[in-house]
Amino acid sequence: MLEIRQLAAGYPGGGRVLDGLDLSVPEGAFVAVLGRNGMGKTTLMRAICGLLRASEGTIGLGGEDITGLASYARAQRGIGYVPQGREIFGDFTVAENLTIGRIAKPGLSPAVPRHLLELFPILAERSRQRAGSLSGGQQQQLAIARALAGEPRLLLLDEPAEGIQPSIVQEIAQKLREIVDTTGLTVLMAEQNLAMVDGWADSLAFVDHGAIAESGVAAAGIRQDQSRLSKYLSI
Ligand SMILES: Nc1ncnc2c1ncn2[C@@H]1O[C@H](COP(=O)(O)OP(=O)(O)OP(=O)(O)O)[C@@H](O)[C@H]1O
Ligand SMILES: [Mg+2]
Repeated sequence: MLEIRQLAAGYPGGGRVLDGLDLSVPEGAFVAVLGRNGMGKTTLMRAICGLLRASEGTIGLGGEDITGLASYARAQRGIGYVPQGREIFGDFTVAENLTIGRIAKPGLSPAVPRHLLELFPILAERSRQRAGSLSGGQQQQLAIARALAGEPRLLLLDEPAEGIQPSIVQEIAQKLREIVDTTGLTVLMAEQNLAMVDGWADSLAFVDHGAIAESGVAAAGIRQDQSRLSKYLSI
């Protein structure tokens, strides 16, 4: 589904952050990219969804080269993005946030699909509430549901466990697993929280100084893999 080859990207004046990054994510897989602060996880997510241009390398989506496409064109081709820090619209209601996720993608009816609200019952319950008044975990669920409302083929999530209590981390991980298993959605998640991936993701890739140092590592049991944890996460 996603094929990244020799990707380089960075910020004006900041030099290269990603350099020679290779990663492939098969269709219907749930893959997590793990790495310490500042190693390039967010930069990678932004480069995939087109908020940041690649200076070298290629990004393929479902067999199509999307490297030169603008972010809206990538969204149209099925990339959904849940940014770090969630970035929901706090002054809008829960229902309005979900509608925004729908209408952001041309060709979709504005009505939010019922199955999304069944998947996240808390959002159905709070639909008329201001999104900014939700708890952190509820806001994260809203950010995920908003991205899913655009019916993506590939969902990118940037540290969804950040600032969220452990029980909700488990709930969110379980829901993502369920969506992948039932719909064939492909998920690429950046994380540092092992509880979000161990037992939930299919495989892990480790990012170190802007490149993938290791990929295809089984996610199950990663919490006991002391050598990789100290090497890539300083745990
Ligand atoms: N807007 C920016 N301008 C310049 N440099 C940036 C910018 N954003 C990030 N960087 C730098 O790029 C590098 C990678 O940052 P990035 O945000 O991708 O890391 P990360 O792995 O997502 O970290 P974290 O786990 O803290 O979210 C860091 O050295 C960071 O300082
Ligand atoms: Mg980040």
